[in-house]
Amino acid sequence: ILCQSASTEKPKSRRNLLDNASNLLTNLLSGSSIGSMPVAEGAVSDLFSRPLFLSLYDWFLEHGAVYKLAFGPKAFVVVSDPIVTKHILKENAFAYDKGVLADILEPIMGKGLIPADLGTWKQRRRVIAPGFHSLYLEAMTKIFTDCAEKTILKFEKLLEGVHGLNPIELDLEAEFSSLALDIIGLGIFNYDFGSIQKESPIIKAVYGTLSEAEHRSTFYIPYWKFPLARWVVPRQRKFQEDLTVINSCLDGLIKNAKETRRETDVEKLQQRDYLNLKDGSLLRFLVDMRGADVDDRQLRDDLMTMLIAGHETTAAVLTWAVFLLTQNPLKMRKAQSEIDAVIGQGSTTYESLRRLEYIRLIVVEALRLYPQPPLLIRRSLKSDLLPGGYMGQKDGYSIPPGTDIFISVYNLHRSPYFWDHPDDFEPERFLVQRKIEDIEGWAGFDPARSPGALYPNEVISDFSFLPFGGGPRKCIGDQFALMESTIALAMLLQKFDVELKGPPESVELVTGATIHTKNGLWCKLRKRINDQQHLIRLINRWYKRGC
Ligand code: HEM
Repeated sequence: ILCQSASTEKPKSRRNLLDNASNLLTNLLSGSSIGSMPVAEGAVSDLFSRPLFLSLYDWFLEHGAVYKLAFGPKAFVVVSDPIVTKHILKENAFAYDKGVLADILEPIMGKGLIPADLGTWKQRRRVIAPGFHSLYLEAMTKIFTDCAEKTILKFEKLLEGVHGLNPIELDLEAEFSSLALDIIGLGIFNYDFGSIQKESPIIKAVYGTLSEAEHRSTFYIPYWKFPLARWVVPRQRKFQEDLTVINSCLDGLIKNAKETRRETDVEKLQQRDYLNLKDGSLLRFLVDMRGADVDDRQLRDDLMTMLIAGHETTAAVLTWAVFLLTQNPLKMRKAQSEIDAVIGQGSTTYESLRRLEYIRLIVVEALRLYPQPPLLIRRSLKSDLLPGGYMGQKDGYSIPPGTDIFISVYNLHRSPYFWDHPDDFEPERFLVQRKIEDIEGWAGFDPARSPGALYPNEVISDFSFLPFGGGPRKCIGDQFALMESTIALAMLLQKFDVELKGPPESVELVTGATIHTKNGLWCKLRKRINDQQHLIRLINRWYKRGC
């Protein structure tokens, strides 16, 4: 696909011009231009009183699956339909770029895959994607397990310090964040942040950078672009300092990887013999397989992108999976029974992942209910005709170049048109094959469409479930993240019973790039007990409540 579009650029653009002109004419005649879209007028109070994606959901129910959101002089098209989503992300993907998102992320990620211009993206994606080979992922399961084990050991130590069957109280969101940071450091560039055990200047710099990315994605005026902002505004000065700390750490790792390039390792990599490699990280692959002369600056941008893209996202999945399980104790017991049957008291392995079906479904259901990020952002590079035919909307809309689009993954994942009881936590729902007769053009939900896939995806669901996006810009680390989450969750539930510390309503939602909690996911952790002990504990509780 990449070669084709590179070699046919000229004729294609001429053809596109003609196509666009005829689309525009058709739509002007039929009246379905962006001007005729239903409009949601955004009240400013809506934008600041709660996360934007929640308001977009209410407007979706009110105005339909494609509407225009206007506030002040700004307008966005909000898409909540799988057929239109598939068109934008896959069928006509190169008619769009990342728009505002690229503006925000470019100062952090440079020419990394997420904000990169089309030319750089094509070149780097071709180089990086083979690095996430299934044998690399298999080797990574050891890192996932080792890091999760360190987290579990830390909790067990804390439990030793409390009396009897009393629990420990922990912010699990913060713990998952440390776990995910250590995993991404080791898996992507063989660097041990050691954040499960300690704080360090580099860890603080990573969190500082993440928080600035989030600040920028939610702040209306890009004041950081003003010429003196980086020196005058304290948080911008701090951001520049944080970037310098991370960049010099990454530069050191790249230098070291280049200096330690060995032909014997290159051979092992060529044979994908990860089990006999001391360093099987992605950086090693990029340096060894692609030659030592690869541009340092580009490599640093690639690593920074993966560090940012693969850290908070994975931590958020684990956070919401645990949040949902704590409110569904029966499903937690079901998950624990599966873990007991598959791994008992042992460790998780690549093979056991295949048999941990329920845990895998819990992870994907958490991603359905809390997609990270909840919105995908695009800007049209040329005029386009969005497909019609969905939910009573016969004609598609034509959109002009420069239109900003939010694809609401949150709306798609909770759409009452595509899911039964969309707000309920039902991991089992992914086992059911379904087709909705009165939704024209939607192929239905069918696991057979992606044979061998361990986890449900956008192909199986025909773009009604797309936690990792879809089309050419789909997440490159999807399997890495899913396996990591499955292993971490299995190892946590193998050892502990988890309860929320306060009522579920006290866990407030905030959002930037990901959906996270306002004040942490505070939980009580107890060492797991067997069913008999569980019964005694329940009876005790009833007794204490006077039942
Ligand atoms: C892109 C989600 C973990 C690296 C994306 C996109 C989504 C996503 C939705 C598409 C964005 C768009 O189309 O605008 C997630 C979630 C994760 C996760 C939910 C965890 C559960 C990771 C990990 C890595 C990673 C672990 C790296 C090791 C990337 C990169 C891109 C990307 C490099 C850009 C791909 C491109 O444009 O070619 N991710 N991601 N992600 N993700 Fe992830």
